[in-house]
Amino acid sequence: MPKLHPDLVNKEFWYKDITLIPNRLPDFERDEVDLTTNFTKNIILKTPFVSAPMDTVTEAKMAILMALTGGIGVIHYNFQTIDEQIKEVGKVKRFQAGFVFNPVVLSPQNTIKDVYKINEKYGFFSMPITEDGTLNSKLVGIVTRRDVRYRKDMETKLSQVMTPRERLVVAKKSETVDRNDPLSADRILREHNLDTLPIINEEDKVVALVTDSDIRKTEKYSLATKNENKQLRTFIAVESRMALAKERIGKGSDAGVDGIVIDASVVFKEQLEIAKWTKENFPKLEVVLGNIGSAEIVERILKEASQYCDAFRLGMGPGAACITQQELGTGRAQASAVWDCSQAVKRLEPKYGFIPIIADGGIKIPDLIDTDIAKPGDITKALALGAQTVMMGSLLAGLDESPGQKEFDYEENRMVKKYRGMGSIEAMEKRGALRYGIEKMKIRIPEGKVIEVPYRGSGYDFIPQLIAGIKQSLQKQGFKNIKELQEEADIRPI
Ligand code: XMP
Repeated sequence: MPKLHPDLVNKEFWYKDITLIPNRLPDFERDEVDLTTNFTKNIILKTPFVSAPMDTVTEAKMAILMALTGGIGVIHYNFQTIDEQIKEVGKVKRFQAGFVFNPVVLSPQNTIKDVYKINEKYGFFSMPITEDGTLNSKLVGIVTRRDVRYRKDMETKLSQVMTPRERLVVAKKSETVDRNDPLSADRILREHNLDTLPIINEEDKVVALVTDSDIRKTEKYSLATKNENKQLRTFIAVESRMALAKERIGKGSDAGVDGIVIDASVVFKEQLEIAKWTKENFPKLEVVLGNIGSAEIVERILKEASQYCDAFRLGMGPGAACITQQELGTGRAQASAVWDCSQAVKRLEPKYGFIPIIADGGIKIPDLIDTDIAKPGDITKALALGAQTVMMGSLLAGLDESPGQKEFDYEENRMVKKYRGMGSIEAMEKRGALRYGIEKMKIRIPEGKVIEVPYRGSGYDFIPQLIAGIKQSLQKQGFKNIKELQEEADIRPI
């Protein structure tokens, strides 16, 4: 049992109000800490991070980042059409680290100048050459940096400098891409000492490219969250309105989505019916229900729907763009909510089985301008209090992988990105009102706001830092994994 200090019992407290006391002598290195955890009953993550279904946070790019780094992304549904959301699922499912699909190609009639122009725009030199300069015609050669670097005459046609098809080493689509096996392409690259390997179909048309530098990068993603077909996993948010949700869930399942988050600011009765319908019609889909914020609701849902629910999403208004607590006088301090609900789940486990908790919202790190050190204190606290994963919005909205452009804020003198609550007027005008069950109402009370968050650069740099920070926090307390942390954490008020 973790120890909760008596001063905290029956009190409301936030992450900032508590600290974790180190009581053990660590005898292992930081990188030996294992963060493996359950996202849902049947989906295991190596990193306890979930990106929030918000239209300034999770579309395909974010979902790919999260899955590659061991977490998972939930794609929002604030699109004009269901198909637009499902298209994002397709992008995640088709993504295969290591393969460059739709590569830029040129024709033998193009010149060295064209190669330099493309290099300026995209930063690479290797280009397959096809009969008519599109992917619809046959491969006739390849141009790489070696072929153009000492050439002075920019008007020279590529037909004169390319390595022609008969001297090219290529790989077959059926033996690489179709098996989702970049390593077989890597073997060919090494064997022939190549920088670039075109992948072709039976018609000798290029379908993808593998480069030595990309292969090196994919070796980094040993934590990736994948299904049995080696595709990255992703979830979608669906509305808590049966009629709409049915179509979305059906299309999501066809696109290969791994599960759904039935999205609402509080659990509606209708959600339980959607959960039941989903399990009856798509038993492979994992179902997340929420949001919840008290032990009473945990018990109620377990009683009514434990067999239809694979994880709880927990948080009543702690988010950075939330105004529910101020506006409506209801909600909960997140840290105490996580403790209460996880205790209830534990107490009821013998009767209803294990169900993981996603602590949603309120994760902050100090925004020190000019530092890029990720400080994951709140995340470790959420895990210590009993959550299996944390869901984050504002922390991830500043990354390159979130939708929207970065801007310069002259008053603050820093780069920022926009982040908006799904209950803000701006988001509701699109479709976000569904989340608050007020889409048909003439008078809408906003429960969210639009804010700016600091621009944080590439998530491929940021997330590994955050992971290292959590491992360091566990190591300091002498815990080798989340289970040990949850069994022995010593939680005290500050
Ligand atoms: P953070 O703190 O990570 O929180 O930015 C993300 C979570 O905030 C919730 N959310 C909202 N809550 N009004 C609310 O009361 C809103 O407009 C709103 N939009 C998002 C959501 O649970 C998300 O995962």
